[in-house]
Amino acid sequence: MTNRLDPRVKVVYGRLWRYVMPHKIIGLIAVIAMAATAVVEASMVWLVEPLMDETLVAHNLETARWMPVAFVIIFIGRGIAGFATESSLGWIGRSVISDLRRDVFKKFLTLPTKFIETHSTGPMLSRMTYNVEMVAESVTNVVTVMVRDLLTVIAAMGVMIYQSPRLFVFVMILLPIIAVLIQILGKAFRRYSGRIQDSVGEVTQVTDEVLRGNRVVKIFGGYEYELERLVSVDERNRRQNLKLIRSRSLGVAVTQVIFGIGIAGVIYAAGIESVNGDLSPGSFMSFFGAMMLMLQPLRRITNISATLQRGIAAGDSLFSIIDEPDEIDSGAHTSDKVRGSVEFRNVSFSYNDGNSPVLAGVSFKVDAGKSIAIVGHSGSGKSTLVGLLPRFYDADSGTILLDGTSVKDYELGNLRDNISLVSQDIVLFNDTIENNLAYGQLRRRSQAEILQAAEAAHILDFVQELPDGFETVVGDRGLLLSGGQRQRVAIGRALLKNAPVLILDEATSSLDTKSERRIQDALEKLMKDRTTLVIAHRLSTVENVDQIIVLDRGCIVESGSHKELLAADGHYAALYRMQFSDETSDD
Ligand SMILES: Nc1ncnc2c1ncn2[C@@H]1O[C@H](COP(=O)(O)OP(=O)(O)OP(=O)(O)O)[C@@H](O)[C@H]1O
Ligand SMILES: [Mg+2]
Repeated sequence: MTNRLDPRVKVVYGRLWRYVMPHKIIGLIAVIAMAATAVVEASMVWLVEPLMDETLVAHNLETARWMPVAFVIIFIGRGIAGFATESSLGWIGRSVISDLRRDVFKKFLTLPTKFIETHSTGPMLSRMTYNVEMVAESVTNVVTVMVRDLLTVIAAMGVMIYQSPRLFVFVMILLPIIAVLIQILGKAFRRYSGRIQDSVGEVTQVTDEVLRGNRVVKIFGGYEYELERLVSVDERNRRQNLKLIRSRSLGVAVTQVIFGIGIAGVIYAAGIESVNGDLSPGSFMSFFGAMMLMLQPLRRITNISATLQRGIAAGDSLFSIIDEPDEIDSGAHTSDKVRGSVEFRNVSFSYNDGNSPVLAGVSFKVDAGKSIAIVGHSGSGKSTLVGLLPRFYDADSGTILLDGTSVKDYELGNLRDNISLVSQDIVLFNDTIENNLAYGQLRRRSQAEILQAAEAAHILDFVQELPDGFETVVGDRGLLLSGGQRQRVAIGRALLKNAPVLILDEATSSLDTKSERRIQDALEKLMKDRTTLVIAHRLSTVENVDQIIVLDRGCIVESGSHKELLAADGHYAALYRMQFSDETSDD
């Protein structure tokens, strides 16, 4: 019908079909159950003829006796078939939801960092919730209509033809008119459904931000602003839903009116037929019953275009995510444990094509087991630089070598296995301290190793005071811990990984001087036998590294040891003097 015009129907439903196929045995049960429903319903209206003509008009005792039994059997059959239909379709629907949800989630795990960072979370989240439900609903509805309703219509037509072919022809003239109406009304739907999904995403987004940012909202009086934001996106959502509801119910109403006029015509025609003596009361009632039986399924066929369209819109955005290319992982080189020499050769990078580069022609070399500090003003590109090593982003030009092999030639997972990281923004999961520490593959580490890492990162200090100890759940993003505690867990995690290359991006920035010094000691011990890239604003923490590079607007402007750079009296010396005078005036 409407959808023949839309090539996406085939694509989206073709792909959805692949999610249904694994459940074909249940599907077969559903089809049989639906067919049974159609047959049972049609036989019920067919029985109206003997009920009327034999029992009520002709007073045939024989019929009067088996008729109630037949009806009981029919209703039992209907119950069984209905139950089997609902539960098997439900089973398929829920399985499709789970499979789709898992596929989308898997995609979220492997999408390039760039994609994730440039897309709002709200719409991504609503795909996991709203879209998958919508798609599955659409699939089950479409299947129901295609099988049960279509068969019911066919069976009802059979009864109608059997009872009065002439009246049937009359009814058939009405059907194309209805079909045309369905087509016209159906077009209005898809526009709205796509937008509804967008606005659901926006609602999720705003709500998520308010919950996350509740302290900022409170202190800066963001109530009105946030409420306005919500009202405006929610209002959009409400309007679009209303439009959808209106156009859908208008579709139903108009179809019903058409049906009503049709029924009036049928009654008129039936009157003429019965005057001619060609139509018994039983036949007419049975015919009429069959026609009424057809009404609901036909109405659902009208509505199905809306559901179908919603399914397409929802499926489209799901599949567009599922089809997004993964991170590029074309390298084959693997190494159980790299030695850890790192070299940047003329590396340039910008987050967006055309923007001025964040890194421009950066070259440096760190020998295996040595340490390098990257210092420079905020925004000079330090975090960006270290992020290129584990390939969160790929350099636009130039090469980054780990043990003399380009990072692009490594198997991505293997490359990352060799790198440990304490990032500038600490990420903890809503789980226990222990699980945050022994996160991911670190789960396999022994209890002794975990304790050792906890000790070195001075996590034991505060864990011992918590009633649940390591089992304490840290809350969303670790919010139930202090900033310094969070940071210590992140350091512990990086220590536990014990990889040959360690990246510390402002790893100790949240710690007080005493804790920092103690952890610094632990880190320095650790840095002895591994390659370390340290970023720190507090220059006192990087004095002991083997080499320091100073980054300014994406370029290396100076490099050397602490002593050399002080002696050179350039950028670094200036930075250092500034901090030194700050610290003395602070203390
Ligand atoms: N994910 C991103 N997408 C787009 N631009 C980014 C992204 N991350 C950083 N930038 C931009 O790149 C530049 C360098 O950022 P970067 O985080 O590397 O600085 P930084 O030296 O680590 O600063 P800080 O000392 O404040 O942490 C900044 O101008 C920033 O606006
Ligand atoms: Mg940074």
